[in-house]
Amino acid sequence: MSKEKLCHIGIIMDGNGRWAQERNLPRSLGHREGANTLKKLCKHVIKLKIPYMSVFAFSTENFKRDRAEVQFLMNLFVELFKNELDFLVEDNVKVIFSGEREPLPKRVLKAMDKIVEKTKNNTGLVFNVCLNYGGKREIVDMTKKMIEKVQNNEISIDEIDEEMVRKNLYQDLPPVDLVIRTSGEERISNFMLYQCAYAEYYFPKTYFPDFGPKDLDEAIEAFGKRNRRFGGVSK
Ligand code: IPE
Ligand code: IPE
Ligand code: MG
Repeated sequence: MSKEKLCHIGIIMDGNGRWAQERNLPRSLGHREGANTLKKLCKHVIKLKIPYMSVFAFSTENFKRDRAEVQFLMNLFVELFKNELDFLVEDNVKVIFSGEREPLPKRVLKAMDKIVEKTKNNTGLVFNVCLNYGGKREIVDMTKKMIEKVQNNEISIDEIDEEMVRKNLYQDLPPVDLVIRTSGEERISNFMLYQCAYAEYYFPKTYFPDFGPKDLDEAIEAFGKRNRRFGGVSK
């Protein structure tokens, strides 16, 4: 049994492209397999009753990729949010998004809004999808939001504290406890910088399409053995 309490899990779903390339398949097929893996992991996390899960689906920087790959991913998001994630509605999952709306295509925004609306009253797992998301951009946006509030005399500078910062990010979420990044890369690539301040990190070599519920269990077990001190001294 895990010693450390796991309230918020973050997954940087990396390695779809390499998974496909190693099989001489187009990168797009890797993304499709990745989407299937995501569905399986969601079901598992629901079963484990972890309260929050955040996944990195598309970074602000991912727009640098070929037009065809970006387009494929956008279509995949629409497909997923429109029908393939319907089990989330039934399983009491509340879907939310973090990121900027611009320049996402209208059809993607529409599908996002729809699943948010359909699940808004759900009270189980909070599933935060980081889409067109950048951690640095989130901090810039939060700063602008707060300055505007100061200028409008809604808040005073003295009132600003960590709690207020948290509430002015894209979503008001508890800190991320465990970040898993698949594919062997050991970096966070602009994922939830503020929320991951004290996260534990886990870097399996497995490409995301091959990362199943069993691998997630292993990650959680490893997390349970970590000694989190938050700057203090262990007992
Ligand atoms: C992660 O897989 C999915 C997205 C970034 C959208 P990649 O597409 O980055 O896969 P690799 O890193 O090229 O293997
Ligand atoms: C991070 O993966 C973003 C997502 C998983 C959506 P990348 O593949 O874009 O990250 P880098 O470029 O290797 O840092
Ligand atoms: Mg990658």
